[in-house]
Amino acid sequence: MVQFPAGFQWGISTSAHQYEGGNVHNQWHEWEARGRIRSGDKCGAACNWWTHAEEDLDRAHQLGLNALRVSLEWSRLEPKPGKWDKHAIRRYREILKAIRSRGMRVFTSLHHFTHPTWFEYKGAFTSNEGPRHFDLFTERVITEFGDLCTDWVTFNEPNVYAAFGYLFGEFPPGRVNDLQAGMAALIGVHRAHALAYDTIHRLQPDAGVGIAINYVVFRAATHGLSDRMLARVYDAAFNRSTLSFLKTGSMPGTMSVLAGRVPEVVGKIDFVGLNIYNRLHVRWPKGTDRTGGIFVPPDVPQGDHGIELPYGEAFPDAVIPAVEAYAQLKKPIYILENGVPDRTDRIRPWVIVKTLENVGKLLERGFDIRGYFHWSLVDNFEWNEGWRLRFGLFEVDPRTQKRSPRLSARLYRDIISQNSISDSALEHFGKAPAARV
Ligand code: BGC
Repeated sequence: MVQFPAGFQWGISTSAHQYEGGNVHNQWHEWEARGRIRSGDKCGAACNWWTHAEEDLDRAHQLGLNALRVSLEWSRLEPKPGKWDKHAIRRYREILKAIRSRGMRVFTSLHHFTHPTWFEYKGAFTSNEGPRHFDLFTERVITEFGDLCTDWVTFNEPNVYAAFGYLFGEFPPGRVNDLQAGMAALIGVHRAHALAYDTIHRLQPDAGVGIAINYVVFRAATHGLSDRMLARVYDAAFNRSTLSFLKTGSMPGTMSVLAGRVPEVVGKIDFVGLNIYNRLHVRWPKGTDRTGGIFVPPDVPQGDHGIELPYGEAFPDAVIPAVEAYAQLKKPIYILENGVPDRTDRIRPWVIVKTLENVGKLLERGFDIRGYFHWSLVDNFEWNEGWRLRFGLFEVDPRTQKRSPRLSARLYRDIISQNSISDSALEHFGKAPAARV
């Protein structure tokens, strides 16, 4: 049996664009209109949360959750610079109250990949003015919603935002290998975090302010020096950038020479959020290889396959190095996302049980982990993959909005109600599944 401490936060994570529907003033809507969603799907009503969040919040409550993570859509609140939408403020207040009234602590992200198109046109976080705009947004948010929430995630995954938007062309603005802009975006985001951190604490002294970091294990395909070196570079640049900014004000190792410094961000963190999904394999790329040497071997456990690319190796042990690395900051840690795309729920139970078993072992070793949030409650709009990758404890039919619980919903509910994983669950779901079928 794996026992969790009293008061452990059991949550699920969501984000505005992926859940609400009708978000037409952000850069992702424009990306979709330009035909850049690979599946061709439309975000449309998404999971219908703008009008019907309460129905899923009832489902969340029935699972026994005591925490829930949402994000506020900046482009909905401030569709034009300085023009605030009163209706949107009112609706968000309703949603935050609805979460709290169901006994769940709210964690609110201020930026989960999306922002207004007007902000995108100004160069977003690559522009010198970007952090200041974000800070003004933050100030207004705390003024409007500070009575309903004290746990703030300024940014979701600065590393994914910068890499996918400026190096891989997978997210807007769709740049490819634009290292300079990618670095500027990463620096801008950490600058913005530093400003927002101070603003939040000025207005709300008891607030907790964190960042959610995506942590991927990079495994060298061979013992060869070049493969190992490349895996190490990816690990430093992707996994440790935020860690390094918070500790030293710059990128890790020799990368600090190439990138600008953000001395004002050092130490500005009250809790660490870790988003944990995958392991990727790395070999030194040959001539025409455009994947940067990253691949997923066919014989490892995987859930749904992306339209062109595999999603990654499902790897519950990733939580161990992630926590070990970020514990250096000596702050409470929340696993703010963990899950797997798995339409048939073939390997999700294993991912949940093994990840939580690892969390239990880390707690025993004395790491200060305060909660686990599953990604996600219901199937939702998975960025470039649209409805292709299914992450929900509940299945959604986007045409009818009908929900059906997967087995994992029951499993998660049982773990929460016992505040532990039973021996039978460990035995039943603890064995690594076969590779993708
Ligand atoms: C993101 C989510 C996304 C999830 C699954 C995370 O990196 O924060 O928005 O849906 O991964 O891919």
